Amino acid sequence: MPNTLHGLKALVTSGPTQEPLDPIRYLTNHSSGKQGHAIATALAAHGAEVTLISGPVHIPDPKNTHVIHVIEAKQMLEACLSVLEQQIDVVVCAAAVSDWRFRDTFPQKLKKQPDTGHLTLSLVKNPDILHAIATHTTLRPWLVIGFAAETEEVITHAQAKLVSKQCDWILANDVSQSVFNADNNTLQLIKEDSVETWPTMTKAAVAEKLAQEIAKAFGR
Ligand code: CTP
Repeated sequence: MPNTLHGLKALVTSGPTQEPLDPIRYLTNHSSGKQGHAIATALAAHGAEVTLISGPVHIPDPKNTHVIHVIEAKQMLEACLSVLEQQIDVVVCAAAVSDWRFRDTFPQKLKKQPDTGHLTLSLVKNPDILHAIATHTTLRPWLVIGFAAETEEVITHAQAKLVSKQCDWILANDVSQSVFNADNNTLQLIKEDSVETWPTMTKAAVAEKLAQEIAKAFGR
């Protein structure tokens, strides 16, 4: 494996987040962490110094990376901001961060009320980690890459995210098919002025291709 990313520091987010309601219940999504972990693995294999911040997943920590385990989006943001202090060169936000968390959480199991057939729970918005990194006034990495998980109008929505989140590249992911926990992925690499469709390939191959693109961007 060529050492094309040697000397660069990379930060990768991966997996879902879990937003607690009470000691036994939470809000989450189907992210397996496979794509984010594969990206961390590939960047490390290319010689980058990689920190991976992972939500709860059922796959092993990638080799040769520093892994920080978190549960909630707020913890993932805090961990990212603290890692940025290390002067990160490239960040890949692959985590499926829960957009929402429960407004109220309960220290004990939330019990059913015997006299009512419904329960209303309020959600509040979680911080947007990718946006926070991309708009950081002093510690913004030189290359900020996000994903866009879409079920319709994939390219249009992904291009809008590139702008609204102020990142440099977006990997657009059509999640209307079963992407979560699958081993293959079909993506489009979207930059400010280009859209490149990648053939369907394994998540490891996607990660390798992305590592090569990143190396090119750094003139390696
Ligand atoms: N992301 C993030 N923090 C959030 C939400 C998303 O860092 N609170 C990042 C993801 O890691 C991904 C990108 O933003 O790189 C897009 O995530 P996606 O789930 O596709 O979009 P959302 O921002 O959640 O927007 P929407 O739900 O409206 O599609």
